Amino acid sequence: MPATHTTLAQHVAIVTGASSGIGLAVAEAMAAAGAAVVINYHSQEAPADDLAERIIAAGGRATVIQADVADEADVARLFNETVDVYGRVDIVVCNSGVQKDAAIADMTLEDWNTVIDVNLTGQFLCAREAVRHFRRQPRSGRPARSAGTVIAMSSVHEIIPWAGHINYASAKGGSRMLTRSLAQEVAADGIRINAIAPGAIRTPINKEAWETEAALEKLLRLVPYGRIGEPEDVARAAVWLASDDADYVTGTTLFVDGGMSLYPEFRDNG
Ligand code: BGC
Repeated sequence: MPATHTTLAQHVAIVTGASSGIGLAVAEAMAAAGAAVVINYHSQEAPADDLAERIIAAGGRATVIQADVADEADVARLFNETVDVYGRVDIVVCNSGVQKDAAIADMTLEDWNTVIDVNLTGQFLCAREAVRHFRRQPRSGRPARSAGTVIAMSSVHEIIPWAGHINYASAKGGSRMLTRSLAQEVAADGIRINAIAPGAIRTPINKEAWETEAALEKLLRLVPYGRIGEPEDVARAAVWLASDDADYVTGTTLFVDGGMSLYPEFRDNG
């Protein structure tokens, strides 16, 4: 993606889980908007390296750092290595997420713990490290008030209950309150904390919901806007939310869902 606009010039961004799906698109869009980007991955090194190469070839700045967001020491290292390379950090996108779906009677404790650890504790660890760094580093030379900003990648399931996915929905519900409570706690430090709630986006995590025509047709009954979302739909929202254009926005969730959270079943019922 060529560097077409520079709303994120002079920003350093960490994007977790950036080797695929929404995280990959967010990292690419932030680099195109002028940010130096740390592409964090957990286990898929090759696509993370490919993305860094693409960004650099387009004239951008990117570094790949492996880390498990659910591991306290790894998260500290992710931030320290970012500062070693780029000198500071301005934007943290807590994007890493997994699904381990099962009905309650069949859900193992491991399925529960893995999803809570990655999707919720991972956001806590990254947000905590972000706040520590934002408070300690000198303000950037940019003419903006923000000392740094965090975006938690949530989901429509921060408000929509989801049978068969209680671990995932519980983590996203937790993410909603993490965002609001932390925003309230650190606003006086000039730190903005927000979330993005994607709906059905075409990524590997929900492949079975869109890969066949029948599945897609069923899915689209839940999307008033009439199309599946693309990772770039979320990426463009993330660029804006992270930018100084959104300087007065904190403690909110931006839904990027084609209306999925608008109770579409009520269009002709109720
Ligand atoms: C989930 C997807 C799902 C979408 C809408 C997302 O948070 O990861 O699997 O398709 O929500 O239900």
